[in-house]
Amino acid sequence: MNFKEQLKDYIELVNTRLSSYLDYENGYNSTLIESMKYSLFAGGKRLRPVLALASYDLFGDHICEVMPYACALEMIHTYSLIHDDLPAMDDDDYRRGKLTNHKIYGEGIAILAGDGLLSYAFEIMLDDASKQKDPGPYIRSIKEIANAVGISGMIAGQTVDLESEGKVIDKKILEYIHLNKTAALIVASLKTGAIIGRAPERDVKCMEQAGLNLGLAFQIRDDILDVTGDKGKLGKSIGSDIDRHKSTYPALFGLETSVAYVKELTENANSLLVRYKDRSDFLLELSNYLTKRES
Ligand code: IPE
Ligand code: IPE
Ligand code: MG
Ligand code: MG
Ligand code: MG
Repeated sequence: MNFKEQLKDYIELVNTRLSSYLDYENGYNSTLIESMKYSLFAGGKRLRPVLALASYDLFGDHICEVMPYACALEMIHTYSLIHDDLPAMDDDDYRRGKLTNHKIYGEGIAILAGDGLLSYAFEIMLDDASKQKDPGPYIRSIKEIANAVGISGMIAGQTVDLESEGKVIDKKILEYIHLNKTAALIVASLKTGAIIGRAPERDVKCMEQAGLNLGLAFQIRDDILDVTGDKGKLGKSIGSDIDRHKSTYPALFGLETSVAYVKELTENANSLLVRYKDRSDFLLELSNYLTKRES
């Protein structure tokens, strides 16, 4: 299978399973479920679940083992986007090519849709882990994910991101923001695939290092696209970082340096991934595609 076919395959697997998880109405919660589905199926790239599946495929043979965790990663990511777009945070009107959740459902329901996706993600993972004969790797993955999105991870990054609006910050703090608000979940996605695929510890570490480089590169590319991107392709408004006086790589170091840094970080990630030879072709192509992505 070539890269494009494999990517389509992974995305289809994720979307099918996500649809079945969201088939969950009990009458009174219908608005909540509708708003969760609105953002979840608005057309994201599905990067985090794809990373979890591709990493699993380097080590394991039964991809269904990692599916609940891959879907949970996408739910958590989508929750983070709904909250990130709220007026109290980045105050954005477009996401994934559609109006943001709060623009359609109002702020209260948008907050609850985020809360719903976050808690449901952990319910799905714990439900799966509790059915395993050997729950160790599954519990470990859940803990990795909880740490990555928690108060020393994504939420910490988002906090410092907000606190840094309108300020001049140094490279260390900017890197702290990017590593936590974005790279942490990307690291957790790659590690989850490896841990559930029963990879040896050195390979789990290798996925962690590759994820740190890819995750940082991913957020810097996001910052670049906020300056040079096309709203139609991106599915979200551009210029939003400048409007909010956000601390970003292009704002602090300029576009050229930012582009070069994305390349350097991607090369670091690739040099770790090549050790899996043919098996890592997909991840290598994905990592190279991410440096050039327009959406
Ligand atoms: C956007 O993530 C938020 C960042 C962490 C930069 P993505 O660019 O992966 O968004 P979707 O999932 O494709 O919508
Ligand atoms: C978002 O970073 C990070 C999280 C949602 C955790 P950004 O604020 O740069 O993402 P976009 O540009 O709105 O997608
Ligand atoms: Mg933000
Ligand atoms: Mg934002
Ligand atoms: Mg951005």
